[in-house]
Amino acid sequence: MNDKYEVFLRDVKNEFSLNIHQALEMIHYFHKEMEMGLAGEKSSLKMLPSFVCPPKGTEKGTFLAIDLGGTNLRVLAVRLLGDGIIETVGVSRFAISDEVMTGTGNMFFDFISRCIEAFLKENHIAQERFDLGFTFSFPVIQSSIDRGVLISWTKGFSVSGVEGRDVVGLLNDALIRNKMESIHISAILNDTVGTLAAGSYMDPLCHMGVILGTGTNACYSEKIKNIKKLKDPFSSDEMFINIEWGGFDRLERNIYDETVDKNSQNPGEQRLEKMVSGLYLGEIAKIVVIHMIEKGYILSMGLQSILTEPYSFTTEQLSHLSSGSDIFKKSGIRISDTDREIIREIACIVSERSARIAATAIAAVVQWIDPRLHNHHHIAIDGSLFEKYPGYKENMQSMLEEIFGDLAKKITLKLTHDGSGIGAAVVSAIEAHKRS
Ligand code: BGC
Repeated sequence: MNDKYEVFLRDVKNEFSLNIHQALEMIHYFHKEMEMGLAGEKSSLKMLPSFVCPPKGTEKGTFLAIDLGGTNLRVLAVRLLGDGIIETVGVSRFAISDEVMTGTGNMFFDFISRCIEAFLKENHIAQERFDLGFTFSFPVIQSSIDRGVLISWTKGFSVSGVEGRDVVGLLNDALIRNKMESIHISAILNDTVGTLAAGSYMDPLCHMGVILGTGTNACYSEKIKNIKKLKDPFSSDEMFINIEWGGFDRLERNIYDETVDKNSQNPGEQRLEKMVSGLYLGEIAKIVVIHMIEKGYILSMGLQSILTEPYSFTTEQLSHLSSGSDIFKKSGIRISDTDREIIREIACIVSERSARIAATAIAAVVQWIDPRLHNHHHIAIDGSLFEKYPGYKENMQSMLEEIFGDLAKKITLKLTHDGSGIGAAVVSAIEAHKRS
């Protein structure tokens, strides 16, 4: 084997490592940024109040929910039976085209209204009034449970005329335009808030909701007295806080991270997200591969077709590669065994760092809630990276063990399917309970 190539790969490994010292330092800064965010001071962690309190698990009723934040819009009808039991009555999925993702606000909200209409028809649901929970997975400043102003788009969305405006109001206008006045938007929430609401409705030990998918973020329940920036009184002594951890900016970046950031739609923002989430991992790996081709360490021709376009190398492909499947053969690309092995190794390096950063961020939040880990903490996690990437959960677990030793056993990482959608129904139910 070529020595130079081995040295290069070792350097890449180093550049993508997160050792225990760096992890502990990350936790330290994470706590500082959390504190500043809660106090309303400038911080890379926005710590957004959600106006949602923990569910009791006894709330009942049938609610509509929409879940928007990735490449699909989901509409659901969900029945809560009390006793922590949830049934999904119906669910439809609608692909969001690039045109809608980058078009005008009116196009975007009319599209959502039409999806709700199609869902109700398909499932033969008719009622005089529907309470709908709206999961909107972008950073939103809320002043109440049903008012939320979009700070900025993330994850490749760039619908015009929405940033800086109340998203509930815009959806309401569209519902009226489309003669759907029977729909009443009772809550707007982040997907992490939904995941925690669903997780804690079903399991009282669930203390955190995390998304590890196209984007990444987390939410936890905070004591009202610690949310210094909260001006108005709240009906409970705890409130879910949407951390928006994708924005954390105290991690050291390497040249590949900087390139991805520079070429992205929102340079300088969402720094942690760009090192961790599914939208970006393929792109990071692609840039390392291009570097190796330029240096002459990867020699196979024909790779260009999947490397030239931005985001052409997806995290799904990375994940297949990591599990040993030959994605190149499927695309008709001939590549040597050595080159395939090198690219597989790069995939593993990039995904392992992502898992270690995600686990360290979870460790930081758990330690914030319970510094000595007296209690057990179940973490509700949704998203394809956690669910499908081979070895991802194991890499997270081993990072938690490095940080906490034996105490890591007190933290359980639990896949919580569709939490973001189901959670919107749970939050609607909490609101309905308050009114009754
Ligand atoms: C958004 C968050 C969201 C996360 C996961 C990020 O890009 O800023 O609000 O929770 O993606 O969907």
